[in-house]
Amino acid sequence: MNNIAEQNNALHTAYKLRGKPTDMTNRTKESKIQTNTGLGRKQFIQTFGFALASTAFSTMEVRAKQPPPLPLSGNPDDEEYWTVIRSQFPLSDKISYMNNGTMGPSPFPVAEAFKKAIDRTNMDANYGGGDIESVEALAGLVNAHRDEIAITHNVTEGINIVCWGLKLKKGDEILITGHEHVGNGLPWLLRSKLHKLKLKIVPLGSTAEETLNNFKKAFSKKTKVLAVPHIPCTIGQILPVKEICAEAKKRGVFAFIDGAHGPGMLKLDLHDMGCDAYASCCHKWLLAPTGTGFLYVKKEKLDAVQAYSVGGYSSLNWDLLHKPPILEGLVPTAHRYYYGTQSAALYYAIVAAVEFNKQIGVEVVEKRIRRLAASLQEKLLGLGSDKIEMLTPTEAISRGSVIAFRLKKTNYNEFANYCREKHIIIRSVPENGINCVRVSTHIYNSHEEIDRLVELVKEKI
Ligand SMILES: Cc1ncc(COP(=O)(O)O)c(C=O)c1O
Repeated sequence: MNNIAEQNNALHTAYKLRGKPTDMTNRTKESKIQTNTGLGRKQFIQTFGFALASTAFSTMEVRAKQPPPLPLSGNPDDEEYWTVIRSQFPLSDKISYMNNGTMGPSPFPVAEAFKKAIDRTNMDANYGGGDIESVEALAGLVNAHRDEIAITHNVTEGINIVCWGLKLKKGDEILITGHEHVGNGLPWLLRSKLHKLKLKIVPLGSTAEETLNNFKKAFSKKTKVLAVPHIPCTIGQILPVKEICAEAKKRGVFAFIDGAHGPGMLKLDLHDMGCDAYASCCHKWLLAPTGTGFLYVKKEKLDAVQAYSVGGYSSLNWDLLHKPPILEGLVPTAHRYYYGTQSAALYYAIVAAVEFNKQIGVEVVEKRIRRLAASLQEKLLGLGSDKIEMLTPTEAISRGSVIAFRLKKTNYNEFANYCREKHIIIRSVPENGINCVRVSTHIYNSHEEIDRLVELVKEKI
C-alpha cells in the first residue's frame, strides 16, 4: 500500500469486516530464549552462545549490501540462479547458516516491507493495516479459507489455543510422539497433568508406512486428540499426516498438527490434508521476521476449539451495562483467537514473505531445498554407517529439508560447536535424549556450503 488514502481505505474495510473493536488489550511477551528450545538459560548460552556472538554483524554491513533484482525467469536447475537468490539475503557471507529450522533470515524485500511499515506508522501515526492482506496471503498459500486463519506470533501460541480450547475430560487420551518440540510437548503435558488426561507416545517409523501403522495401532476408544508434528524439530522426517488425519477422522478424533516446519518448505493444501487444526509460524521456512505465525482451524471446528483469550475483534456485539450483560457471541471466523493492537509491520512482512516465496515458486523452492538435503544425506551415508548414524529417513517422501545424524566418534554438542568455530551454524538436538546434530538448509544455501560441512564431518569421524 503506497499512500495514506489507501491505508485508510484498508483500515475502513477491516473495520467494516470485523465490526467494532471491543477491547484493545495488549499482551506481554515472555523471553523467547528459554521457551524456544526448552533449555535453561545457562544451557542455552552454552549451546547457542557462540552462534549469537559470531553472527552479530553491524548494521552498516547489512545496509552496504544491495540486492540485484530477483530473477523471475532464471533456470532453477542452474547453480547461478541460486547465487542470485542468495544475494537477495542480507545474510553475511562470513557464515554458512544451516539452522533454518530454528529461524529463517528474511530476504531484503521482506525486511524492507517490515521497515517501511514501521516508518509509515511513525510518520503518519497510522498504526493499523495489513491484517486482512496477511490472512489472505497465508490462506492462499496453504489452501484454506481466510475465515480459518488466525494470525499468531509463533507456533506455540497456536498450539496453546488448540490445546486449552478443546473440551476433554479425565481419562481422555492424546496421541503424541517422542519427538516433540517443547512448544508442542509442554502444553499437552501440562494439560494432561492438570486435567488427568493420558498422553500416549506413538513411535515414529523409518518409513511413512511404518509410521502410519504405528498410529493405527495406537488409536483406542479413549483417543480424543491427535497432537503430532508434520515435521518434527528433531530429525525432520515428514510424517504421513494426510493418512494419519484420515485415520483420526474415521474414529472421530480431533486431528491437530504442529506445522512449524510445513509452510515455506513444502507445498501445502490444508483442506486436502484433512487436519482439524494446524499451527505454524512464518519465521522459519517462510522467511518472515520473528513474531509471525498463524493458526488454521477448519471452519466446522471453530466451536470445538473454544477461544479463552479474547479481546478487540474477537466478538460480536457486547454490552456490559445491559441487565443482564450481553455477549452476542464470538465472530464466526478464526479472528476470535487473536485480538487487540497488533503490528502492521509484521503483517506487511508476512505478505511480503509469501510474495517472495511465490515469486520464486513454491514448487521450485521445495525442489531446491529437498535436493540440497538429499545431496547432504547421500554424502554422509557415503562416509559409512560405522562412522555416521543417519537418523533422518532415506525414503524420499519422508525426507524434506532437514537432515539429522550422529557422529559415532564425536559428541553431538562438541561437533555443533566445532562447526560454529568454523562459521557453519547447525543445531544440536538434546531434546528427549536424541542427542544428534541437525542441519536445515534453505534456498540461500549452496552445494559448496554442504561440501564444506561434509569436510568438517570427515575431520571428526
Ligand atoms: C516442531 C516445532 N514445533 C513447535 C516449535 C515452536 O515454535 P515457536 O518458537 O515459533 O513457538 C518449533 C520451533 O522450533 C518446532 O520446531
